[in-house]
Amino acid sequence: MAEIRLNAFDMNCVSHQASGLWRHPRDRSAQYRSLRYWTDLARTLERGLFDSLFLADVLGVYDVYGHSPDAALRNGAQIPVNDPAMLISAMAGVTEHLGFGLTATLSYEHPFPFARRMSTLDHLTEGRIGWNIVTGYLNSAAKSTGKQVQTKHDQRYAIADDYMDVVYKLWEESWEQDAVLRDKQQGIFTDPSKVHRIQHDGPFFSLDAIHLAEPSPQRTPVLFQAGASARGQQFAATHAECVFVAGPSQDTVAKTVRSLRAAAQQAGRTKKTPLVFSLLTIVTAPTEEEAFAKYRDYQSYISEEGALTLLSGWTGIDFSAYKPTDPVRHIRSDAIHSAIDSLTVMNPDKIWTVGELARHAAIGGMGITFVSSPTQIVDQMEQWIDQTGVDGFNLAYAVAPETFEDIVALIVPELQRRGRYKRAYQPGTLRHKLFGAGDRLPANHAGRQTHATPPLASAQ
Ligand SMILES: Cc1cc2nc3c(=O)[nH]c(=O)nc-3n(C[C@H](O)[C@H](O)[C@H](O)COP(=O)(O)O)c2cc1C
Repeated sequence: MAEIRLNAFDMNCVSHQASGLWRHPRDRSAQYRSLRYWTDLARTLERGLFDSLFLADVLGVYDVYGHSPDAALRNGAQIPVNDPAMLISAMAGVTEHLGFGLTATLSYEHPFPFARRMSTLDHLTEGRIGWNIVTGYLNSAAKSTGKQVQTKHDQRYAIADDYMDVVYKLWEESWEQDAVLRDKQQGIFTDPSKVHRIQHDGPFFSLDAIHLAEPSPQRTPVLFQAGASARGQQFAATHAECVFVAGPSQDTVAKTVRSLRAAAQQAGRTKKTPLVFSLLTIVTAPTEEEAFAKYRDYQSYISEEGALTLLSGWTGIDFSAYKPTDPVRHIRSDAIHSAIDSLTVMNPDKIWTVGELARHAAIGGMGITFVSSPTQIVDQMEQWIDQTGVDGFNLAYAVAPETFEDIVALIVPELQRRGRYKRAYQPGTLRHKLFGAGDRLPANHAGRQTHATPPLASAQ
């Protein structure tokens, strides 16, 4: 039986997917500004042999709810939010194996400085960096950077394709593997004939540059993505090595995984890629009764307004205009298409009310929550994997870091007992740990199909 993979899902803010739970007496997420909070978390996850910690990010405030940022600010709904990249070197310094999935949007930054930042992190983590490729979904982010409105949904993916072309060229083509000589005798640090100028003139980006960083262990970071709409899946099928999916039921997740895998095969990917991770929150304790008592306690701290504020941002629907008993209806916005689709057209038998959705999303966002004893939770995890075809879970927290500590103490040993989880890390980079086939993107991946340019010396 295949190994079940675990990712932790967090964000550089309070109560990431747990609206209102920053008020819980044991929640420490309000310490997100302290490096110690993050290094402790990284150690806990490495103790539990997690593949990686995935850090979400947004570059705007959730102001769709009530056409105002007030509810987001009041509830700490992913604001204040600090830059996730700064946390990674510190966490890498106290761990040896844990990978890091850094979310970075390509809508508001030119690929050139971004490519160098990722190469730097790949060097400093010794090849443990991944990139969650996002295009954003909040109009507030577009306005913050001088646009009137965010770019249309499908167009964002077209821009993303061009962005990928640029970063692939910088990471994969600019420096030959043996370009850096560090030859003290001859006084040559880098052989200029092995460094290539990248000249890109695409539909959205152009540049004429050499990459500033020398080749890092993985060159291209492990590529994570979460596109679930038709266009999003096409993008994921081409680029993603790992995909995050979220849905409120087994059926919706199974449908997404089926069409994603079909798209990936059509794009010529192997059966093993991309790996798919399903969003899940686990509330557990040694016995079922204790787990449910813990869940009831957590629920007493939720903020429905906070949850609806996040949901409004994800779906583009202003939920403040509805009563809790109103049904959730499908609309098409420029936010996350799959967020509203998974609640409506993908699962037509279930009519969600606004209040019910708020309570569902207040713990675990658009994913599902399992509450029970460790053996029952692992039964549910195995069944979920069998029914949906995912490879593992992207684990959100209810109370931080308690949820992760509970998983490490109670769920990991049960998974190991059943032979469904590793007992030690594989050596090597994040990509090698995940796929067992070396540090670099596979030779048939889109990122390896870019064209070499003439060596710098001859191009001058
Ligand atoms: C588990 C999960 C995590 C996500 N994290 C982020 C994030 O941190 N930042 C972001 O801008 N988008 C995030 N997204 C949204 C995706 O990047 C993407 O916009 C969305 O899944 C696209 O869906 P669509 O193709 O259906 O519109 C996330 C999506 C999922 C499922």
